Amino acid sequence: MHDSNSVHDSNDAGAPATARAHSNIGLIKYWGKRDAGLNIPAAGSISITLDALATETSVAFRDGLAEDEFRLNGVRFPAGRVTRFLDLVRTAAGQERHAIVTSTNNFPTGAGLASSASGFAALAVAAASAAGLALDERELSGLARRGSGSAARSIYGGYVELHAGSAPDGSDSVATQLLAPHEWPLSVVVAITDPGTKAVDSTTGMRASAAASVFYDTWVDTAEADLAGMRAAIGARDFSALGELSEYSCLKLHAVMLSTRPALAYWNAGTVAAMHAVRELRASGVEVYFTIDAGPQLKALCAPDAAGAVAAALASVAGVVDVRVSGLGGGTVRLD
Ligand code: PMV
Repeated sequence: MHDSNSVHDSNDAGAPATARAHSNIGLIKYWGKRDAGLNIPAAGSISITLDALATETSVAFRDGLAEDEFRLNGVRFPAGRVTRFLDLVRTAAGQERHAIVTSTNNFPTGAGLASSASGFAALAVAAASAAGLALDERELSGLARRGSGSAARSIYGGYVELHAGSAPDGSDSVATQLLAPHEWPLSVVVAITDPGTKAVDSTTGMRASAAASVFYDTWVDTAEADLAGMRAAIGARDFSALGELSEYSCLKLHAVMLSTRPALAYWNAGTVAAMHAVRELRASGVEVYFTIDAGPQLKALCAPDAAGAVAAALASVAGVVDVRVSGLGGGTVRLD
Protein backbone atom coordinates (compact mmCIF):
# COMPACT_ATOMS: atom_id res chain seq x y z
CA MET A 1 0.00 0.00 0.00
CA HIS A 2 2.93 2.33 0.49
CA ASP A 3 5.25 3.64 -2.18
CA SER A 4 8.47 2.47 -0.63
CA ASN A 5 11.02 4.42 -2.66
CA SER A 6 9.39 7.74 -3.26
CA VAL A 7 12.00 9.88 -1.54
CA HIS A 8 15.75 9.84 -2.01
CA ASP A 9 18.20 11.92 -0.07
CA SER A 10 20.71 14.09 -1.89
CA ASN A 11 23.67 11.70 -1.67
CA ASP A 12 21.46 8.72 -2.55
CA ALA A 13 22.88 6.76 0.38
CA GLY A 14 19.41 5.72 1.53
CA ALA A 15 15.71 6.26 1.07
CA PRO A 16 14.53 7.87 4.28
CA ALA A 17 10.89 7.44 5.18
CA THR A 18 8.63 9.13 7.70
CA ALA A 19 5.40 7.85 9.19
CA ARG A 20 2.81 9.14 11.65
CA ALA A 21 0.88 6.84 13.97
CA HIS A 22 -1.72 7.49 16.63
CA SER A 23 -1.84 5.95 20.05
CA ASN A 24 -4.71 3.69 21.06
CA ILE A 25 -6.37 2.59 24.27
CA GLY A 26 -7.63 -0.90 24.97
CA LEU A 27 -11.36 -1.28 25.63
CA ILE A 28 -10.89 -5.02 26.11
CA LYS A 29 -7.38 -5.13 27.51
CA TYR A 30 -4.29 -7.03 26.41
CA TRP A 31 -2.22 -8.41 29.30
CA GLY A 32 -0.17 -11.57 28.78
CA LYS A 33 1.65 -13.41 25.99
CA ARG A 34 1.40 -16.92 24.57
CA ASP A 35 4.88 -16.54 23.02
CA ALA A 36 7.25 -14.00 24.53
CA GLY A 37 9.93 -14.38 21.84
CA LEU A 38 7.54 -13.68 18.96
CA ASN A 39 5.45 -11.32 21.11
CA ILE A 40 2.17 -13.13 20.49
CA PRO A 41 -0.65 -12.20 22.89
CA ALA A 42 -2.35 -14.89 24.98
CA ALA A 43 -5.77 -13.44 24.10
CA GLY A 44 -7.26 -10.93 21.71
CA SER A 45 -7.93 -7.28 22.55
CA ILE A 46 -10.08 -4.42 21.20
CA SER A 47 -9.04 -0.77 21.14
CA ILE A 48 -9.85 2.67 19.81
CA THR A 49 -7.25 4.77 18.03
CA LEU A 50 -6.88 8.36 19.33
CA ASP A 51 -6.28 11.33 17.04
CA ALA A 52 -4.77 13.63 19.70
CA LEU A 53 -1.85 11.39 20.71
CA ALA A 54 0.60 10.97 17.84
CA THR A 55 4.15 9.84 17.10
CA GLU A 56 6.10 10.84 14.00
CA THR A 57 9.15 8.77 13.14
CA SER A 58 11.75 9.02 10.38
CA VAL A 59 14.11 6.20 9.48
CA ALA A 60 17.15 6.46 7.22
CA PHE A 61 19.54 3.54 6.66
CA ARG A 62 23.02 4.93 6.18
CA ASP A 63 26.45 3.65 5.14
CA GLY A 64 29.19 3.97 7.70
CA LEU A 65 27.14 3.89 10.91
CA ALA A 66 28.59 1.62 13.60
CA GLU A 67 25.20 1.31 15.32
CA ASP A 68 21.64 2.58 15.11
CA GLU A 69 21.11 6.10 16.42
CA PHE A 70 17.79 6.84 18.12
CA ARG A 71 16.54 10.28 19.11
CA LEU A 72 13.21 10.91 20.81
CA ASN A 73 11.99 14.50 21.09
CA GLY A 74 15.52 15.65 20.26
CA VAL A 75 17.27 13.60 22.95
CA ARG A 76 19.58 10.67 22.12
CA PHE A 77 18.53 7.41 23.84
CA PRO A 78 20.10 3.92 23.88
CA ALA A 79 18.78 2.19 20.75
CA GLY A 80 18.47 -1.34 22.23
CA ARG A 81 14.75 -1.94 21.71
CA VAL A 82 14.78 0.00 18.41
CA THR A 83 17.77 -2.04 17.19
CA ARG A 84 16.09 -5.35 18.07
CA PHE A 85 13.09 -4.23 16.03
CA LEU A 86 15.17 -2.92 13.11
CA ASP A 87 17.02 -6.27 13.05
CA LEU A 88 13.71 -7.91 12.03
CA VAL A 89 13.33 -5.41 9.19
CA ARG A 90 16.98 -5.78 8.13
CA THR A 91 16.66 -9.57 8.04
CA ALA A 92 13.47 -9.41 5.97
CA ALA A 93 14.93 -6.85 3.55
CA GLY A 94 18.50 -8.14 3.26
CA GLN A 95 19.58 -4.76 4.60
CA GLU A 96 22.85 -4.58 6.52
CA ARG A 97 23.20 -0.88 7.24
CA HIS A 98 22.38 0.76 10.52
CA ALA A 99 19.85 3.56 10.71
CA ILE A 100 19.22 7.01 12.06
CA VAL A 101 15.81 7.00 13.75
CA THR A 102 14.25 10.31 14.74
CA SER A 103 10.99 10.28 16.63
CA THR A 104 8.69 12.84 18.24
CA ASN A 105 5.77 12.24 20.59
CA ASN A 106 3.24 15.01 21.22
CA PHE A 107 2.42 13.51 24.67
CA PRO A 108 4.30 12.10 27.71
CA THR A 109 6.34 9.00 26.86
CA GLY A 110 6.15 5.79 28.89
CA ALA A 111 3.50 7.08 31.26
CA GLY A 112 0.64 4.72 30.44
CA LEU A 113 -0.48 6.70 27.39
CA ALA A 114 0.47 3.90 25.00
CA SER A 115 3.53 5.57 23.53
CA SER A 116 4.81 2.11 22.57
CA ALA A 117 1.69 1.62 20.44
CA SER A 118 2.13 4.72 18.32
CA GLY A 119 5.93 4.43 18.56
CA PHE A 120 6.27 0.94 17.11
CA ALA A 121 3.45 1.43 14.58
CA ALA A 122 5.23 4.51 13.19
CA LEU A 123 8.61 2.74 13.33
CA ALA A 124 7.24 -0.33 11.52
CA VAL A 125 5.83 1.70 8.64
CA ALA A 126 8.83 4.04 8.33
CA ALA A 127 11.47 1.30 8.69
CA ALA A 128 9.78 -1.13 6.29
CA SER A 129 9.49 1.62 3.73
CA ALA A 130 13.05 2.88 4.19
CA ALA A 131 14.33 -0.70 3.83
CA GLY A 132 12.41 -1.13 0.57
CA LEU A 133 9.93 -3.70 1.92
CA ALA A 134 6.48 -3.47 0.31
CA LEU A 135 4.21 -4.75 3.09
CA ASP A 136 0.42 -4.60 3.18
CA GLU A 137 -1.46 -3.43 6.30
CA ARG A 138 -1.87 -6.95 7.66
CA GLU A 139 1.88 -7.55 7.37
CA LEU A 140 2.66 -4.15 8.89
CA SER A 141 0.35 -4.99 11.81
CA GLY A 142 2.19 -8.27 12.39
CA LEU A 143 5.53 -6.47 12.17
CA ALA A 144 4.43 -3.72 14.59
CA ARG A 145 3.25 -6.44 17.02
CA ARG A 146 6.84 -7.65 17.32
CA GLY A 147 7.76 -4.26 18.83
CA SER A 148 4.71 -3.94 21.09
CA GLY A 149 1.44 -5.85 21.10
CA SER A 150 -0.71 -2.73 21.21
CA ALA A 151 1.25 -1.29 18.23
CA ALA A 152 -0.35 -3.92 15.98
CA ARG A 153 -3.68 -2.14 16.65
CA SER A 154 -2.36 1.38 15.86
CA ILE A 155 -1.76 0.43 12.21
CA TYR A 156 -5.54 0.90 11.87
CA GLY A 157 -7.82 3.78 12.80
CA GLY A 158 -11.12 3.72 14.65
CA TYR A 159 -12.24 0.53 16.40
CA VAL A 160 -9.67 -2.25 16.09
CA GLU A 161 -9.31 -5.87 17.22
CA LEU A 162 -5.97 -7.62 17.68
CA HIS A 163 -6.40 -11.37 17.25
CA ALA A 164 -4.42 -13.81 19.35
CA GLY A 165 -4.48 -16.27 16.44
CA SER A 166 -3.37 -19.87 16.75
CA ALA A 167 -0.42 -20.22 14.36
CA PRO A 168 2.82 -21.03 16.24
CA ASP A 169 4.70 -18.44 14.15
CA GLY A 170 2.20 -15.68 15.02
CA SER A 171 1.30 -15.11 11.36
CA ASP A 172 -2.41 -14.85 12.23
CA SER A 173 -1.85 -12.63 15.26
CA VAL A 174 -2.63 -9.36 13.49
CA ALA A 175 -5.18 -6.61 13.92
CA THR A 176 -8.27 -5.90 11.85
CA GLN A 177 -10.50 -2.83 11.78
CA LEU A 178 -14.02 -3.21 13.23
CA LEU A 179 -15.27 0.30 12.38
CA ALA A 180 -13.66 3.36 10.81
CA PRO A 181 -13.53 6.50 13.01
CA HIS A 182 -16.33 8.33 11.17
CA GLU A 183 -18.67 5.34 11.48
CA TRP A 184 -19.19 5.95 15.21
CA PRO A 185 -17.54 9.10 16.65
CA LEU A 186 -16.51 8.90 20.29
CA SER A 187 -14.51 11.17 22.59
CA VAL A 188 -11.83 10.27 25.07
CA VAL A 189 -10.88 12.68 27.85
CA VAL A 190 -7.40 11.84 29.14
CA ALA A 191 -6.85 12.92 32.75
CA ILE A 192 -3.10 13.03 33.40
CA THR A 193 -2.26 12.58 37.07
CA ASP A 194 1.51 12.02 36.72
CA PRO A 195 3.44 12.65 33.50
CA GLY A 196 6.48 10.71 34.80
CA THR A 197 7.66 7.36 33.45
CA LYS A 198 5.84 4.35 34.90
CA ALA A 199 7.54 2.07 37.42
CA VAL A 200 7.06 -1.31 35.73
CA ASP A 201 6.90 -1.57 31.93
CA SER A 202 4.15 -3.70 30.42
CA THR A 203 6.39 -6.58 29.25
CA THR A 204 7.83 -7.02 32.74
CA GLY A 205 4.41 -6.61 34.32
CA MET A 206 2.77 -9.18 32.03
CA ARG A 207 5.47 -11.74 32.78
CA ALA A 208 5.05 -11.15 36.50
CA SER A 209 1.24 -11.48 36.36
CA ALA A 210 1.43 -14.73 34.35
CA ALA A 211 3.87 -16.14 36.90
CA ALA A 212 2.32 -14.89 40.12
CA SER A 213 -1.35 -13.83 39.90
CA VAL A 214 -3.83 -16.53 40.89
CA PHE A 215 -6.33 -14.73 38.64
CA TYR A 216 -4.17 -14.86 35.48
CA ASP A 217 -5.58 -18.09 33.99
CA THR A 218 -9.13 -16.87 34.58
CA TRP A 219 -8.21 -13.58 32.91
CA VAL A 220 -7.11 -15.42 29.75
CA ASP A 221 -10.01 -17.91 29.86
CA THR A 222 -12.67 -15.18 30.10
CA ALA A 223 -11.23 -12.95 27.35
CA GLU A 224 -13.26 -14.43 24.49
CA ALA A 225 -16.58 -13.65 26.20
CA ASP A 226 -15.49 -10.03 26.75
CA LEU A 227 -14.34 -9.74 23.13
CA ALA A 228 -17.66 -11.12 21.86
CA GLY A 229 -19.58 -8.66 24.01
CA MET A 230 -17.49 -5.73 22.78
CA ARG A 231 -17.79 -6.75 19.11
CA ALA A 232 -21.57 -6.84 19.60
CA ALA A 233 -21.61 -3.45 21.37
CA ILE A 234 -19.54 -1.85 18.59
CA GLY A 235 -21.63 -3.51 15.87
CA ALA A 236 -24.83 -2.17 17.48
CA ARG A 237 -23.31 1.28 18.28
CA ASP A 238 -24.44 0.62 21.86
CA PHE A 239 -22.45 3.11 23.96
CA SER A 240 -23.83 1.93 27.31
CA ALA A 241 -22.69 -1.62 26.58
CA LEU A 242 -19.30 -0.43 25.27
CA GLY A 243 -18.71 1.72 28.34
CA GLU A 244 -19.84 -0.86 30.89
CA LEU A 245 -17.67 -3.57 29.29
CA SER A 246 -14.67 -1.22 29.03
CA GLU A 247 -14.82 -0.34 32.72
CA TYR A 248 -15.27 -4.02 33.57
CA SER A 249 -12.25 -5.12 31.48
CA CYS A 250 -10.15 -2.31 33.00
CA LEU A 251 -11.03 -3.23 36.59
CA LYS A 252 -10.54 -6.94 35.87
CA LEU A 253 -7.08 -6.13 34.46
CA HIS A 254 -6.20 -4.12 37.56
CA ALA A 255 -7.44 -6.99 39.75
CA VAL A 256 -4.88 -9.19 37.97
CA MET A 257 -2.20 -6.52 38.39
CA LEU A 258 -2.99 -5.98 42.08
CA SER A 259 -2.97 -9.75 42.76
CA THR A 260 0.49 -10.11 41.20
CA ARG A 261 3.23 -10.66 43.79
CA PRO A 262 4.76 -8.18 44.32
CA ALA A 263 1.66 -6.14 43.40
CA LEU A 264 1.57 -3.98 40.30
CA ALA A 265 -0.11 -0.90 41.73
CA TYR A 266 -0.29 1.69 38.95
CA TRP A 267 -2.89 4.04 40.49
CA ASN A 268 -2.20 7.12 42.56
CA ALA A 269 -4.63 9.19 44.64
CA GLY A 270 -5.54 11.31 41.60
CA THR A 271 -6.38 8.19 39.57
CA VAL A 272 -8.79 6.98 42.25
CA ALA A 273 -10.33 10.45 42.68
CA ALA A 274 -10.87 10.62 38.91
CA MET A 275 -12.53 7.17 38.94
CA HIS A 276 -15.00 8.41 41.55
CA ALA A 277 -15.58 11.64 39.62
CA VAL A 278 -16.52 9.61 36.52
CA ARG A 279 -18.96 7.51 38.52
CA GLU A 280 -20.49 10.63 40.09
CA LEU A 281 -20.88 12.24 36.67
CA ARG A 282 -22.64 9.10 35.49
CA ALA A 283 -24.97 9.12 38.48
CA SER A 284 -25.81 12.76 37.66
CA GLY A 285 -26.85 11.83 34.12
CA VAL A 286 -23.69 12.39 32.02
CA GLU A 287 -22.97 9.06 30.36
CA VAL A 288 -19.21 8.51 30.81
CA TYR A 289 -17.04 5.49 31.64
CA PHE A 290 -13.35 5.15 32.51
CA THR A 291 -10.47 2.95 31.51
CA ILE A 292 -6.88 2.86 32.85
CA ASP A 293 -3.77 1.13 31.48
CA ALA A 294 -0.38 0.31 33.02
CA GLY A 295 0.00 3.77 34.47
CA PRO A 296 -1.82 6.35 36.62
CA GLN A 297 -3.67 8.24 33.85
CA LEU A 298 -7.42 7.84 33.50
CA LYS A 299 -9.17 7.87 30.14
CA ALA A 300 -12.86 8.78 30.18
CA LEU A 301 -15.07 7.58 27.32
CA CYS A 302 -18.08 9.69 26.33
CA ALA A 303 -20.12 10.99 23.41
CA PRO A 304 -18.49 13.97 21.63
CA ASP A 305 -21.17 16.40 22.87
CA ALA A 306 -20.40 15.47 26.50
CA ALA A 307 -16.60 15.89 26.19
CA GLY A 308 -16.56 19.54 27.34
CA ALA A 309 -18.46 18.79 30.56
CA VAL A 310 -16.37 15.68 31.27
CA ALA A 311 -13.09 17.58 30.68
CA ALA A 312 -14.20 20.43 32.98
CA ALA A 313 -15.20 17.98 35.72
CA LEU A 314 -11.96 15.99 35.52
CA ALA A 315 -9.81 19.15 35.40
CA SER A 316 -11.16 20.13 38.83
CA VAL A 317 -10.33 16.77 40.46
CA ALA A 318 -7.52 16.95 43.03
CA GLY A 319 -4.43 15.26 41.60
CA VAL A 320 -5.35 15.72 37.93
CA VAL A 321 -2.59 17.92 36.48
CA ASP A 322 -3.67 18.06 32.84
CA VAL A 323 -6.62 17.08 30.68
CA ARG A 324 -6.62 16.35 26.96
CA VAL A 325 -9.61 15.66 24.77
CA SER A 326 -9.26 13.33 21.81
CA GLY A 327 -11.50 12.05 19.08
CA LEU A 328 -10.92 8.84 17.18
CA GLY A 329 -7.91 8.80 14.91
CA GLY A 330 -6.91 7.22 11.64
CA GLY A 331 -4.35 4.51 10.99
CA THR A 332 -0.61 4.83 10.44
CA VAL A 333 0.36 6.79 7.33
CA ARG A 334 3.51 7.63 5.37
CA LEU A 335 4.21 11.35 5.44
CA ASP A 336 6.63 11.55 2.51
O1 PMV B 1 1.70 -3.02 23.90
P1 PMV B 1 2.20 -3.14 25.29
O2 PMV B 1 3.19 -4.26 25.43
O3 PMV B 1 2.73 -1.85 25.81
O4 PMV B 1 0.95 -3.54 26.24
C1 PMV B 1 -0.15 -2.69 26.48
C2 PMV B 1 -0.95 -3.18 27.64
C3 PMV B 1 -2.07 -2.28 28.12
O5 PMV B 1 -1.90 -0.95 27.64
C4 PMV B 1 -2.06 -2.23 29.64
C5 PMV B 1 -3.45 -2.81 27.71
C6 PMV B 1 -3.86 -2.59 26.28
O6 PMV B 1 -4.65 -3.40 25.78
O7 PMV B 1 -3.42 -1.61 25.65
